[in-house]
Amino acid sequence: MTARPGIWITLEGGDGSGKTTQAEMLEKWLSDAGHKVLRTREPGGSDVGQLIREIVLHHRGDIAPRAEALLYAADRAHHVATVVRPALERGEIVLQDRYLDSSVAYQGAGRVLDAVEVRDLSLWAAEGALPDLTLLLDLDPSAARVRLDSADKPFDRLEAEKAEFHTRVRESFLALAAAEPERFLVLDAAASADSVASVIRDRVASLI
Ligand code: TYD
Repeated sequence: MTARPGIWITLEGGDGSGKTTQAEMLEKWLSDAGHKVLRTREPGGSDVGQLIREIVLHHRGDIAPRAEALLYAADRAHHVATVVRPALERGEIVLQDRYLDSSVAYQGAGRVLDAVEVRDLSLWAAEGALPDLTLLLDLDPSAARVRLDSADKPFDRLEAEKAEFHTRVRESFLALAAAEPERFLVLDAAASADSVASVIRDRVASLI
């Protein structure tokens, strides 16, 4: 997706890292400045994706690792083709909660699938589309757990995984960021929401 008129920003990080709060703050800041913003997410950013989200997050019982990776990739393929690409072509700013880095970090953390394979599957699904900027909210999984425990919401399948799984997810996100320093901005999510938001705004301002 070269020479597209819009700007595509994704937010990544472990569960409880504050992605939603930051997406809301950034959306408000951009909209107040007169930009047209599309907020979306994976899994579940399209009609078909809503159905897939139900399966991957709420199905009772195991899903075979390759089937799970394919479900996320199917959600991604439909989402990029029908929601993200059209918005970028209209010149909008797309603010997206999670993208292919989540697949590499989470599906790779199960130790069954290889990170490169998972990434290649997603790139095939999305016809190679990569965001202009990826905000990684980095947080120690034990601090994230405290936040999740205080939120009055039932855990989904992945949030209920063991601590060691979440540590591997975090390490994988950091390795992805180190491999693509131009695309990623790594943020210390233990800092206050306001200070994280201001670092994000500085970087986004340089893109628009
Ligand atoms: P999220 O929407 O952030 O959850 P919530 O609604 O609770 O904020 O993410 C849902 C879960 O999906 C999260 O635990 C990570 C997982 N996930 C993957 O495992 N692979 C993927 O490719 C994506 C996009 C998400």
